[in-house]
Amino acid sequence: MIDEADAAAAAAFTPVLKLADLPANTKKAVQVGAKCLLVCNVNDKLYAIANVCSHNEKPLERGRMGNGWIACPVHGARFDLSTGAALNLPAKLPIATYEVRVSGDDVEVLV
Ligand code: FES
Repeated sequence: MIDEADAAAAAAFTPVLKLADLPANTKKAVQVGAKCLLVCNVNDKLYAIANVCSHNEKPLERGRMGNGWIACPVHGARFDLSTGAALNLPAKLPIATYEVRVSGDDVEVLV
């Protein structure tokens, strides 16, 4: 049985792209309302983060990805893809992270 909270959460997931369009070790920037997100596939594990570095508000979409992290292409700060935590300077503040799931052929995010 699904309670109201579960139903509300399920309704808030938004399809943003097809899973087939996000092969392993790639990423795609997507727009959800006013928010620009970056959906990342690292070794077939999906993450959704804000597509903006907390250091100087530059996009992260051209950043290098590693096992559970992404590096800002501008000054090299790395962020944990699960928690958004800044892993090294010059960034000190975290970035936003979002729940992500696969539903059928779609990748969906909870924004
Ligand atoms: S703008 Fe990202 S580390 Fe400086």
